[in-house]
Amino acid sequence: MAGMDGWEREIEQSGSVRSRIRIGQGITQESLTGIEAPVFVLADRQVGELTDRILSFLPGSARITRTDLAVPEAEKTLATVSRVYEAMGSAAITRDTVVVVVGGGVMTDLGGYAAATYLRGLKWVAVATTLLGQVDAAIGGKVAVNVPWGKNLVGAFHLPGLVVADLDHLVSLPAEEWRAGLGEVIKSALIAGGPLWDALAASPPVLGRVETGWLPIIRATAEVKIDIVNQDLYESGVRFFLNFGHTIGHALEHRYGYGFLKHGEAVGLGTLVALRLSEDRLGLDPAVRREVASWLRGWGLPTAIAGASLEDLRPALIQDKKARSHGLQWVLLERVGRPRVVKDVPWAEVARALEVIRGA
Ligand SMILES: NC(=O)c1ccc[n+]([C@@H]2O[C@H](COP(=O)([O-])OP(=O)(O)OC[C@H]3O[C@@H](n4cnc5c(N)ncnc54)[C@H](O)[C@@H]3O)[C@@H](O)[C@H]2O)c1
Repeated sequence: MAGMDGWEREIEQSGSVRSRIRIGQGITQESLTGIEAPVFVLADRQVGELTDRILSFLPGSARITRTDLAVPEAEKTLATVSRVYEAMGSAAITRDTVVVVVGGGVMTDLGGYAAATYLRGLKWVAVATTLLGQVDAAIGGKVAVNVPWGKNLVGAFHLPGLVVADLDHLVSLPAEEWRAGLGEVIKSALIAGGPLWDALAASPPVLGRVETGWLPIIRATAEVKIDIVNQDLYESGVRFFLNFGHTIGHALEHRYGYGFLKHGEAVGLGTLVALRLSEDRLGLDPAVRREVASWLRGWGLPTAIAGASLEDLRPALIQDKKARSHGLQWVLLERVGRPRVVKDVPWAEVARALEVIRGA
């Protein structure tokens, strides 16, 4: 069934639909009615009331089990996955169980990973409750946990059968969590260009106010990811473009410790560095970086950070998932909507590009 205004997109694999993505406002109940028990609900404790409501929408309440956890990024680990396995074990869930994960990107990464691995793989549904989750993390089936030496290094590809992104769920989201999702919105606008870029350039919606034009932005951002995943589910080609801004972004998160910089803040800073490298390497118009910096400032995201020298970041850069045996690969832009993978960027050039975000 499509959303109230008919908005639904699909991710296909080998010619059949594997993941339906529904984005709208007030769509949760109608989206979940098709789910058949047994259901195992894994929810972010922060959104307990929402989860209560979701449970009332699910059929066969006698065959629903629920576990609520508070999981900060630093605990998106195998140890926490083990706790989820234990809850699944106590509930004696069977292979026909659908795992419904309610929360932001931490919960969908963690719960999706548990669903991918428990009993060798269970069907799952993501109810995304953060901006980052709705535009990015819940979509596309990459599920993962962190290990002490890097982020998201243990994971799987396991598409959720259904993703529900209901803007009603964003109403309670604190401003800093809105900011966390903006890095992905900007990234998608840069790599895809088109209406998303034009809409943001014309008038960026107001943080925290759903009614100021977020629905088309969230849908357009999600669509960029859906289109790319449809072309390249396993990241052997164009999916790599979604890493724009993330090479430096992840290194900053790793260097400064998760929690000090929000993911979106780190990606925003990484985007400025990638744009600067794009100017040097591919002749990108510097006006793009000025425009992006003005959005970041308008939304209260940092455009500079103390330190952030190459010496500080190099160890994390070398560990980067995007590194291959022949060295780092960068996603850079020729122009808005035209990304390219660039190898062999000399460290001296990276050091120079980092100066654009070097704070006092
Ligand atoms: N799998 C992917 O493709 C992918 C893509 C991008 C990011 N990610 C991952 O996503 C994670 C970050 O996700 P996130 O930014 O959603 O963080 P998060 O899940 O930690 O949520 C942020 C905070 O908001 C709270 N929260 C969630 N929903 C809320 C609501 N509706 N109202 C009030 N508070 C709410 C949470 O409890 C948490 O404190 C990272 O671990 C990142 O690696 C994954």
